Amino acid sequence: MQLLKQKVLDEGIVLSNQVLKVDSFLNHQMDPVLMKEVGREFTRRFAGEAVNRVLTIESSGIAPGIMTALELEVPMIFARKQKSLTLRDDIFVEKVYSFTKQETNEITVAKKFIQPGDRVLIIDDFLANGEAAFGLARIVEQAGATVAGIGIVIEKAFQPGGRLLKEAGYRVESLVRVAALDDGKVTFADQD
Ligand code: G4P
Repeated sequence: MQLLKQKVLDEGIVLSNQVLKVDSFLNHQMDPVLMKEVGREFTRRFAGEAVNRVLTIESSGIAPGIMTALELEVPMIFARKQKSLTLRDDIFVEKVYSFTKQETNEITVAKKFIQPGDRVLIIDDFLANGEAAFGLARIVEQAGATVAGIGIVIEKAFQPGGRLLKEAGYRVESLVRVAALDDGKVTFADQD
């Protein structure tokens, strides 16, 4: 997605060879016009998948998630992150380990919002090791629903998440794939 690539080039800050800061349009300040285009692009890519729910995770997944859900005209659910939890039978719970933050969160979704037979499109802002996406997919499967696809705004293709999700059989669509963050510079994996 050319518009997004340009935004990454213009405003992305390479913090290290592992971390790309994009807080001017995705992770802190958010660019609604760009998010609208992101929603349109995911809708175009997943047309034909009969999606009836979008699932994302707080907080930075919510903007691309809601714009995609708006375009698809389906509800969006965001998984909540919690540190520790008293057990309840009305919520799905999965553990998600963050390599970036070196902490484990429990992510939760109320059972009433995902039903057996639903076709759920998972949307997230970043894909690194794939822990968050796998956690969301496990919640969908706990519900007896189907993962219709996984849409990622920025994939760090030098980390294994994309490959692992594809090997697990999921359809992954990343709008921008970053091949490397060396010497303070962003290199993209794809030409288009
Ligand atoms: P994973 O889910 O793919 O395994 O990723 P990881 O645990 O490493 O990511 C943990 C958090 O760090 C996630 O946000 C993820 O979006 C973010 N993240 C990972 N790599 C980068 C990066 O290069 N740049 C930026 N800006 N973020 C990155 P989170 O903790 O859920 O935060 P938020 O959604 O509340 O903002």
